[in-house]
Amino acid sequence: MKIRKNIPLIDQHDKFGFWGGKFGGNFVPETLKKPVEDLTILFEKLRKDKKFVKKRDFYFKNWVGSPTSFIKLESLTKHLGGAQIWTKIVSEANGGAHKIYNATVHCLIAKRAGKKYIVGDTGAGYAGKMLSMAAKKFGLKCKIFMGAKDIKRQKPNCDAMKKNGAEIVPVYTGSQTLVDAVSECMRYWVSNCDTTHMCVGSTVGPNIFVKICGWSTSQISRELFLQIKQEFGTIPKKIKLLNCVGGGSSSFGFWNEFMHYDKRQIEFVGIEAGGPKKSKRHAAPLTYGSKIGILHGAAQYVNQDTEGQIEETESISAGLDYPGVSPLHCFLKDTKRARYTAATDEEALNAYKLVTRCENLNPSLEPSHAFAEAIKLAPKLSKNTIIIVNSCGDAHKDKDILRQRLGKF
Ligand SMILES: Cc1ncc(COP(=O)(O)O)c(C=O)c1O
Repeated sequence: MKIRKNIPLIDQHDKFGFWGGKFGGNFVPETLKKPVEDLTILFEKLRKDKKFVKKRDFYFKNWVGSPTSFIKLESLTKHLGGAQIWTKIVSEANGGAHKIYNATVHCLIAKRAGKKYIVGDTGAGYAGKMLSMAAKKFGLKCKIFMGAKDIKRQKPNCDAMKKNGAEIVPVYTGSQTLVDAVSECMRYWVSNCDTTHMCVGSTVGPNIFVKICGWSTSQISRELFLQIKQEFGTIPKKIKLLNCVGGGSSSFGFWNEFMHYDKRQIEFVGIEAGGPKKSKRHAAPLTYGSKIGILHGAAQYVNQDTEGQIEETESISAGLDYPGVSPLHCFLKDTKRARYTAATDEEALNAYKLVTRCENLNPSLEPSHAFAEAIKLAPKLSKNTIIIVNSCGDAHKDKDILRQRLGKF
């Protein structure tokens, strides 16, 4: 299994939609075959259409607010010693997280497909908030599926969705988290695909949804590539790109432009949710060697029991609380292009505390997992190593959890 040069990773699947011959695919019911095929044809046409790409770039710049800042975290670097720590503050994007890129592109596609309704899933609430914002902007009626547990723990984002006129459909099945929200959303789309476009909130789902999302979030690394060159005059010899991984959309978008660099020069480190220290449950299928299974229309490494039933996950971070992971990341793991590890709830909270104490930055619980790894790594590395963390979400949504767990600190 090898990554090919000069072909975007999102296109390195076989004719059946599998990356590396085994990850991804299209495990969809008969009724969805045609809508998925139509969407594939439309997307492949649009991404080659210069006018469409120009329109995307217009909205990325003038509405999303690209490019987001790339800065050195001077105090944190000084505090830890060793490697330099930098961050790309993707949370500066409109709405407060990277999910806006995928949501914007899906709404533009829905308009071109002549659809009036759009549905989506959400965990941390950012995918839902962004879809509601984009739907409002482009005049689409929006419905968001969200687990009942997540509705409780991510209230600020739910308030935003409602304010944008979206309907939130609470999901009470299973663990009442993201995995159940995606399932319900897909079920809804099966019966409403004639009138409704579906936005999958991460690089998961049937092949075409992985591709659309990856194509959209890659804007992050396109910007970062130019920003690194501008800052250092070249691409430095030792860079580590650290990103939290739930479904995998922010990490894929953060890495894509650097895919063909040697990993000794640019290493990709994905940080999954290890869950509470004392719990056996986690949301880290890549780190803990979960087996391949089918989830949400795609083959992937996924937490499962001995009978192949999807296992419940546990994480303080609603955005990472997902048993599976993008087929793109399964491929990156098997080709050894990326390395994956996990941070526990406690490590993420401690990282949040340290980062906010040292810097004027407020990373949500998802990127706090990536900062936890930066904190572990930096002291062991030389000053000329550059660690870059994707600060992909703002912690405003986590204020209740942070107050409960940390009190006033
Ligand atoms: C701020 C933030 N970061 C990361 C994630 C994880 O998703 P992904 O791995 O697709 O970036 C989420 C998901 O909701 C999120 O809201």
